[in-house]
Amino acid sequence: MVKVSVIGSGYVGLVAAACFAELGHEVICVDNDARKIAGLERGETPIHEKFLPELLARHRGKRIRFSGSVKDATRASQAIFIAVGTPPSENGEADLSYVEAVSREIARAIAANPNEYKIVVEKSTVPVDTSQGVRRVMELNGAPSHLFDVASNPEFLREGTAVTDFLYPDRIVIGADSERCIALLKKIYEPLTDGSYYKNKNIIPEPDDAQIPARLIATSAKSAELIKHASNAFLAMKISFINAVAAVCESVGADVGQVREGMGADIRIGKRFLYPGVGYGGSCFPKDVKAFRAVAQHCGYDFGLLDEVMRINDDQRQRFIKKVRNALWILKGKRLAVLGLAFKGGTDDIRDSQAIAIVQSLLKEGCTIAAYDPAAMPKTQASGAFSSEAVFFAANPYDAAKDADAVLVLTEWEEFASLDLERLRTALKHPIMVDGRNLYQPQIMAELGFTYISVGRPDVSAKKNAAVPAPGAD
Ligand code: UDX
Repeated sequence: MVKVSVIGSGYVGLVAAACFAELGHEVICVDNDARKIAGLERGETPIHEKFLPELLARHRGKRIRFSGSVKDATRASQAIFIAVGTPPSENGEADLSYVEAVSREIARAIAANPNEYKIVVEKSTVPVDTSQGVRRVMELNGAPSHLFDVASNPEFLREGTAVTDFLYPDRIVIGADSERCIALLKKIYEPLTDGSYYKNKNIIPEPDDAQIPARLIATSAKSAELIKHASNAFLAMKISFINAVAAVCESVGADVGQVREGMGADIRIGKRFLYPGVGYGGSCFPKDVKAFRAVAQHCGYDFGLLDEVMRINDDQRQRFIKKVRNALWILKGKRLAVLGLAFKGGTDDIRDSQAIAIVQSLLKEGCTIAAYDPAAMPKTQASGAFSSEAVFFAANPYDAAKDADAVLVLTEWEEFASLDLERLRTALKHPIMVDGRNLYQPQIMAELGFTYISVGRPDVSAKKNAAVPAPGAD
């Protein structure tokens, strides 16, 4: 057992804290938002994340406790993980002021009570060489250099499957420049790397493609920092690549689904993360690609490829809006049903969601929107993303579709793939669907009476119900 604290109870911090407790460690979870801490203490889970409520309920008051004090947490811990936000600043560089502030507090706590060796671990995504900056700040604030090390342990979890990703990782990357520090990090992850966690009863269920035991890669601190940025930039590039291929498919009448199958069968390419759509969003990819671009610039390398990744991603949104315009001719005054607001399925997160940006553009064009999302409506309402009166939140997809001129699919929610499409079509004023996530088969949609427009596949028009009114007709 290792005494661990996690500073910052956002997506990454809270999931890491709950999973460390699940691995048998004693964990203090810290946040400076007193309301969040009070809620966690009462048993609430502030984010929508599969298995997180179960883990918090299992360990709350036993192996995991909550606190507002970095000082107390530092004193009580052998390893202090920093999982605070690193939001983008104006020029795309990550704003490290929260990381710096926390490092200062940790250093002061160590300086006031310099008794045992501790490690400070960056969990937040940070630019290469941040560990040096953290070390410097800590020394400046009185932490004796022989009593601490700074490491990087980037987190690769995806929202929606974060707990499973943590406990069944593809790889665990630990980056540090001292043996002592690497040894403590290895001990923290040992239940996953020696496989002992997987032998317990009542563990979080194993996903299909789990690698057991987990693989650990130990690197220098700088390499670990780079692994995270380079991985996310590469995945974003994969998405932009297939979106660009989808655009070519649209011009020549090919099917991107078939192209993806064929490309992905080459194991060097792989099928995963090759789904075309409305572009990537979320709290990581947009921010990390921009930040990595800035980091490279800073280091003297002009990583222009990343500019193109971002340009294609923005373009993908515009291309979607163009499809809606092509389908409906005039957008002003049209009522549109929108399915999906979250940046991807399985989460209530709307940060940098392409769906939100698309709805905002359609509102500017004078459309009325009836939106439905299985989880993200409360966050959307609270965010004030749509100040317009022209947005209405529906109780279900069918209510959203009622009397709409078309239905737009913007998020890849599993439950959208199993809708009662007959019911959806009859609710609509015109049976037009513009699917930004390729959730359905074009031929089936045509047979069901839809005019169906998707991404990188030929458009199809309704096969039956030939008498359905044309767009624009009353
Ligand atoms: C991502 C990384 O996957 C994760 O390793 C990192 O730690 C944080 O960033 P996340 O942001 O939760 O995780 O979502 P992810 O599932 O990666 O999807 C990101 C975006 O790309 C979503 O908007 C999604 O809709 C889009 N996407 C993903 C595609 O458009 N096509 C794909 O094939 C995959």
